Amino acid sequence: MSEVPAAGVTAQTFGQLPDGREVELYRLVNDNGMEMTVMSLGGTIVSLKTPDAEGNQADIVLGFDSLEDYLAPEYRKANPYFGALIGRYGNRIAGGQFEIDGQTWQVPQNDGNNSLHGGSRGFDQRLWEVSPVEEGSGVGVVLTLTSEDGDQGYPGQLEAEVRYTLTDDNALDIHYQATTTATTPVNLTQHSYFNLEGEGNGDILDHQLTLNADAFTPVDDSLIPTGEIRSVADTPFDFRQPTAIGARIDEDNQQLQRGQGYDHNFVLKREAGDDLVLAARVEAPDSGRVMEVYTTEPGIQFYSGNFLDGSLEGKAGQPYGHRSGLALETQHYPDSPNQADFPSTLLSPGETWLSHTRYRFSTR
Ligand code: GLA
Repeated sequence: MSEVPAAGVTAQTFGQLPDGREVELYRLVNDNGMEMTVMSLGGTIVSLKTPDAEGNQADIVLGFDSLEDYLAPEYRKANPYFGALIGRYGNRIAGGQFEIDGQTWQVPQNDGNNSLHGGSRGFDQRLWEVSPVEEGSGVGVVLTLTSEDGDQGYPGQLEAEVRYTLTDDNALDIHYQATTTATTPVNLTQHSYFNLEGEGNGDILDHQLTLNADAFTPVDDSLIPTGEIRSVADTPFDFRQPTAIGARIDEDNQQLQRGQGYDHNFVLKREAGDDLVLAARVEAPDSGRVMEVYTTEPGIQFYSGNFLDGSLEGKAGQPYGHRSGLALETQHYPDSPNQADFPSTLLSPGETWLSHTRYRFSTR
C-alpha cells in the first residue's frame, strides 16, 4: 500500500546553480493526496501526481528527478521548457521586434529569426522567490520575480507574481499578475507537458482532445501567425468534438506540415463577460484520467510535443519520444505586439495584468 502523504506544503533544497545559489523544491499535497512539486528555478512544475479511474496515482507531467538534469547541456540545447513558467512573452514575436508609440524594441532572436518564450534568458531560467500561502480551499505557493528594466530588451521593470494552488477538488489553479514601470508586452503562461497515462508511458496520440474553439490562427513557415483567423471547420484543427490527437496529425495539410504536427494557437469561444471558460478537455483511454483546462485568456496554444525525439530521459527512466507529452498553454495569440487586430498584450504603468488558468483533474 502506498503511503498517503499529509496535506500541506513542505520545502527542501533541490540543488545548487553553478553560481552557488540554492534551488528550492516545494511539495504541495491537497486533502485528497494529489501532489505537486515545484522548483524555484523557472517556477517549474517538476511533478504532478493524480489518481486514475482505479485510484492509482501516477506522475502525469514530463520532467526530471534532479536539478542536474534541468541544467544539463543536452537539456539546455533542446530546451523544451518542461513545466516552466514562461515570460515576459509566451510564444513568438516576429523578428524579435515590436513598436510601442513609435519606438522600436529588439528582443532576443532565439528561435530562428523570431523571439520565443521571452528570449534566451526568459523567466523559465530565473530563480523565483517562493513562499507557501494559506488558501480558503487547498494548498498553495506564491512565486514572485522582478524583471529589471531592459531585461531581455523589454521596456520597463516588471513585477510578476504567480500563485499555484492545489484545490481540494483536484484542480491546479494558476493566478498570474504583473505590473510595470513602462508600457511593455506581457504574455505569461505555463509550459507543462502532460501525458495522462503517466509520464514516460508512450505517446499522447490516443488521448482524446476537445477544444472550445471555432477558429485558429494559421502560421507562416516560422510559426508566426499570418493574421488570419481561420475557421476550423473541415480541417484537422476541428476538435469541437472529442477526437484522438493522432487521428489526423499526419494528414497532408500545410498548417500541420509547418507545425510538424499541432503547434497552433486556438481562438477560444467566449461570451462577453465570461470569466473562466472551458478551453480544453483531454481524456486518456487506458487510465481514464481527464484534464479540463479553464482560462480567462483569449487563446490556447496546443503543442503536440513534435520536437521531442527520445534524446531526453525522464523521471521513470524512459526516453521522452516523439509526441510523448502535450502542452496546452493558455495565452494571448502569438506575435500580438505586431498584429493590430489581435487582442492587445500591452501593459501600462498603473495597470495590473491579471490572468487565471485552472487545470482540473478527474477520471472518466
Ligand atoms: C511552444 C512552441 C513550440 C516549441 C515549444 C518548446 O509550445 O509553440 O514551437 O518551441 O514551445 O519546445
